[in-house]
Amino acid sequence: MSKFWGSRFEKSTDKLADNFSFSISYDCRLGLYDVIGSIAHAKMLGEKKIISKKESAQLISGLKKIGKKIENGNFQYDVNAEDIHTNIQQELKQIIGPIADKLHTARSRNDLIALDIRLYCLIEFTLIIDLIAKLQKSIIDFAEKNKDIIIPAYTHLQSAQVVLLAHHMLAYVEMLERDKERIQDALNRIDAMPLGSCALSGTSLPIDRSFVSKYLGFSKTTQNSIDSVSDRDFIIEAISSLSILGMHFSRFSEDLIIWATKEFNFIDIDSSMCTGSSIMPHKKNPDILELIRGETAGLYANLNNILVLTKGLPLTYNRDLQLDKPPLFNSVEKTKIMTALLTKLFRTLKVKKESLKNHIYDECFFTVDIMEYLIKKGVPYRLAHDTVGKMVRTCLDKGKSLKALSLDELQKYNKKFNEDVKELIDPYQSVKNKQSLGSTNPKMVNAQIKKWKKVLNVRI
Ligand code: ARG
Repeated sequence: MSKFWGSRFEKSTDKLADNFSFSISYDCRLGLYDVIGSIAHAKMLGEKKIISKKESAQLISGLKKIGKKIENGNFQYDVNAEDIHTNIQQELKQIIGPIADKLHTARSRNDLIALDIRLYCLIEFTLIIDLIAKLQKSIIDFAEKNKDIIIPAYTHLQSAQVVLLAHHMLAYVEMLERDKERIQDALNRIDAMPLGSCALSGTSLPIDRSFVSKYLGFSKTTQNSIDSVSDRDFIIEAISSLSILGMHFSRFSEDLIIWATKEFNFIDIDSSMCTGSSIMPHKKNPDILELIRGETAGLYANLNNILVLTKGLPLTYNRDLQLDKPPLFNSVEKTKIMTALLTKLFRTLKVKKESLKNHIYDECFFTVDIMEYLIKKGVPYRLAHDTVGKMVRTCLDKGKSLKALSLDELQKYNKKFNEDVKELIDPYQSVKNKQSLGSTNPKMVNAQIKKWKKVLNVRI
C-alpha cells in the first residue's frame, strides 16, 4: 500500500512486510489514550502560538468526535493503516480536513507511543490495585465468616501444627497487600510525561512540555528526551509485579485445590467455579483454580518476553519496542480476569466443618505445645525436643494415644510431666496458647480481621 509517512519512498511496501509490521490489531486498545494525549498536545500548540487558536480548537473538536466514537464502540479501525497513531491521524483528516496535518507538529510517534502506553498503564494498573483490594475484602469476609474454624497447617506438605483458617486467609491478604504496594511503586515511575521528546532529541519549536503534563494530570515530566523514547523499564516493573501477583494466585489455587480433594476434604468449591468430567460422572474438577495456576506461566513468559526484547537494544527507539505491547496487554487482561474470578470464588467458598474435625484432633499437631510445656518448666530445649521425639516414636508412630497415657507412663518420659499436659492435646487450646505477635492466637487474629476491615474500605 502507499505509505502514510512515506513520501521519501519511490515504491509501496511489500504486502507481506505490511502484514508483518502493522500493529493496529493490538494497539487499537490505545485509541482513547492517543486521542486524549493529542488533545493536550493540540491545546499546547495553540497556547504557544505554534498553530493558531482556531486551528487548535478545530483539532480538538475533531479529536473529541473521534474519542466519542471510540467510547461508543463505533470507531472503524482501518486495518490498512499501520498503527493507532496513523488511524487517528487519518480519521481526523476525514473529519476536519487538511488542517489535521498540523496535529503532528513537534511530536513523533516515538514519544507519542511512550505517552500512550504510560496513560494506558496509569489507568489499568490503578484499576488492578482496586481489583486486588476487592479480592482482599472477599478473603477477609470469608475469614470472618469462619473465624472459629481450625485447620491443619503444613510444612513440606506434612502435617505440622493447627492454625485458625482465618490466620491462613490473613496470610493471603498480606501477600496481596505487598502486590498492591509493588504496583503502586511502579505507578510512581509510570507517572512521568514523555511527549515533546519528539523523535529523540527534542524540538526547535517553542513547545511547553509542562503544560501537557499538567493538562494530562501527570505529576512529573521526563527530563531526558533520549531516555523518554527508549525507556520501557516502567512496563517491565509493572508486569513483574503482576508476575509476583500471579505467583501468589497460583499458590492460593494450589492450597484450595488440595483442600478440595476427597483426601483432605476441608472445603467445597462452588459448582459455578468447577466443571465435570466427560467420562467420570462423579467428578467435580476445580478447573478455574487450575487455569489460574496455569495462566501464571503466561505472566512469567510475558515478563521474560519484554526483558529479552529490550536486552542489548541500542538507544534510542527501535521498532522492536512495538512488540512490548502484546505481552503487556496480555498480562493486564489476564490479571484482571483472574483477580475478579478469585474474588467470586472466595465469596462462594464453603468450609466442611465436620470433615475438618476429623483432622484437627490428630495428636501429632500438638508436639510443639507439649515441648514448650516442658521448656516452661525449665527443661532445656534440646532435652524437651528429645523427650517428645521419644513419645512420638513409642506412642504416636504405633497408633497409641498420648492422652491415654497414665501419669506414671508420662513421668517415665520426663518427671516434669503432670496430668495437666493433656489439656494441651486439643486444637482450641493449641491456638489459644499462642501468644507471640503475628501468631494464630484467636484474639490477635480477630484484631487483624478488624484492622483489615477498616483498611479495606471497598465495596465488592
Ligand atoms: N507502532 C509503533 C510502536 O508501537 C509506534 C512507533 C513507531 N515509530 C516509528 N518511528 N516507526 O512502537
